[in-house]
Amino acid sequence: MGHSLFCFLGLFSLNTILCGNAEGEKVKATVKANTEIMPAGGSVTLTCDVNHFADLEYDWFRQTSKNSEKTTVAGESDRVLVTSEAGFYTCRGRVKDSDPIIIHETVPIKPTLTLQPSWTQIYSGETVTVRCEIQGGEGAQWTYEWRRNKLNTPPTSNEYRIIRATKSDSGGYSCRGRRDYFLTEWSDIITLTVSYKPKAKLRADNTAFPVGGSVTLTCSVNPSSSSGWKYYWYIEDSGGLVSPRDAVFLSNGQIRVSQGGRYWCKGGRGQPVYYTEDSESVRIDTIVSNRPVVTLYPNWSEIYRGETITVRCEIHGGDTEWDYEWETNSTIKPPNQTEYRIRSASSSNSGNYRCKGRMKSSQHKTTEWSDSVTLTVSNKPRPVLTVSPSWLSPGASVTLNCEVEHPSAGWSFYWYKAVPDLSEKTSSYELLPDGSGTAQDSYIIHGQTHTAGYVCRAGRGDPEYHTDHSQPKFVWSADVHSAASLTVSPDRVQHFTSDSVSLTCEGNFTEWRVRKFSEDGRLYSDCRRMTGSTCNIYTSKSDTAVYWCESGSGEFSSAVNITVQNDGNGPILVSPVHPVTEGASVS
Ligand SMILES: *[C@@H]1O[C@H](CO)[C@@H](O)[C@H](O)[C@H]1NC(C)=O
Ligand SMILES: *[C@@H]1O[C@H](CO)[C@@H](O)[C@H](O)[C@H]1NC(C)=O
Ligand SMILES: *[C@@H]1O[C@H](CO)[C@@H](O)[C@H](O)[C@H]1NC(C)=O
Ligand SMILES: *[C@@H]1O[C@H](CO)[C@@H](O)[C@H](O)[C@H]1NC(C)=O
Ligand SMILES: *[C@@H]1O[C@H](CO)[C@@H](O)[C@H](O)[C@H]1NC(C)=O
Repeated sequence: MGHSLFCFLGLFSLNTILCGNAEGEKVKATVKANTEIMPAGGSVTLTCDVNHFADLEYDWFRQTSKNSEKTTVAGESDRVLVTSEAGFYTCRGRVKDSDPIIIHETVPIKPTLTLQPSWTQIYSGETVTVRCEIQGGEGAQWTYEWRRNKLNTPPTSNEYRIIRATKSDSGGYSCRGRRDYFLTEWSDIITLTVSYKPKAKLRADNTAFPVGGSVTLTCSVNPSSSSGWKYYWYIEDSGGLVSPRDAVFLSNGQIRVSQGGRYWCKGGRGQPVYYTEDSESVRIDTIVSNRPVVTLYPNWSEIYRGETITVRCEIHGGDTEWDYEWETNSTIKPPNQTEYRIRSASSSNSGNYRCKGRMKSSQHKTTEWSDSVTLTVSNKPRPVLTVSPSWLSPGASVTLNCEVEHPSAGWSFYWYKAVPDLSEKTSSYELLPDGSGTAQDSYIIHGQTHTAGYVCRAGRGDPEYHTDHSQPKFVWSADVHSAASLTVSPDRVQHFTSDSVSLTCEGNFTEWRVRKFSEDGRLYSDCRRMTGSTCNIYTSKSDTAVYWCESGSGEFSSAVNITVQNDGNGPILVSPVHPVTEGASVS
């Protein structure tokens, strides 16, 4: 059963504590002895008992007679007293003193926080000291308290030293001083940012200069808000630090060099010096006067997919040996050689090309870049053939013209006669006499009397590259006295729409197809309904065309015009499709 105890301070003595339990019962100490009679020279063990109180301090008193004054047994405060002195003993239990509670007083002083060195932007590995200064408190023995995110074991000195900072040292720092029960205010917060070790950045206003010139190099450390840097410059080959003999040191972070070489830099600050990573290196070249030229072999800047071409870098003057470099925005990059041979061009070879030379004997001496040359790789072209005139007139010659889409050079031309091939639904081509590889893009045929079809194509280069064949083009003959002819029923040039017209191929041949060359320049091979050698059509506007027959053995018939006009567009002239011979009657 628990007892609630209450105690109160005695009126006259701090050490006299009266306690009671909840029922108000006085608590009284009792003293017990292991014996009440002590043999001479012996001792007795006294025990002081205060109900329910375990952890008390005790006072012991002795009287020489019942009424004599109590004297304190000096130095005894345990519950058990061993004594070898007889007398009247009493004891008293006493609650222990509390731990002290400190009541501080704030003094109106705000310490100043300083950084040594003074950079708030620092880098992992740097060392920095945060110092707490209390003005007006000089001479006093302050101890210091530090505050910071996650700073768990603060030092008590006025310096907080961060050695080889890491990212986790980032944060806001502040301090205050403490002396006895006096406390200063907290200082303002200084925010430290710790970044990863930076890499110096080297910028060159130019990477090459003519003999006698110079370039300016700039070294910097990011972020640009960081300060206190000194810059160190290095050059390859001579191997070490750039000395004032090799360069003009401009303001901090800039030098002007007039010697080719590979340069790099780094930054350093602090004591001991903290260094950044080295910058990337840049190559600075001296430009010599030799001029490179990009040349194409063959010299066609417009080429076609699959063609072969060589792009060459030529440097004239002197017998210097060169290494070559190319610059191009094409997808495929040429190797760094004098000559780039493209065996089968593709659109990935399209682009601007320029080159420069680098002296084999002196690697930091180069030529200027050449002018750039544009190479355009186009799809395989299909030339366009024109035939003039379209209708044969006796005695006139026929002129063929073959044109390759993109203007370009070096073509020779091939001229073919189309030979009807009914099974293939196309035609095969037969070279015309002297029609192979002509330099001219036109070809003249004399004495042509029958309807005929022609095709051309072009080729160039070595190995020769050929374009596709052109679409076939025709020259038509109206002469009915040829081996094959076409008759139209009803026999008239003009027809209304939805007329029933039959076209019949005539001649001593077994197989036929009717061909149609429409107003819009399209060539048709199929008659929708062919019965034997007759093609029946129900006319519509799109049937306005030139018609002729082709036999299975390659014969062309004479050709006819048929025009179809809408019913509403007035009358039609009824005239025969074939030219009439002199003296014949026509209705
Ligand atoms: C090809 O060479 C000739 C003469 O060498 C030159 O006049 C012409 O400009 C060159 N064409 C191209 C496209 O380089
Ligand atoms: C050619 O050399 C330049 C400069 O040294 C280099 O940047 C480039 O990658 C090289 N090109 C090839 C294809 O090796
Ligand atoms: C190369 O650059 C030129 C000029 O800037 C541009 O006209 C051309 O389209 C570019 N070619 C390619 C393949 O990027
Ligand atoms: C067909 O029409 C064209 C022009 O439309 C003409 O030059 C040609 O002589 C005509 N042919 C016949 C056979 O009527
Ligand atoms: C048609 O051809 C056959 C065999 O080639 C020949 O016997 C016949 O005489 C020819 N007829 C005409 C009208 O040419």
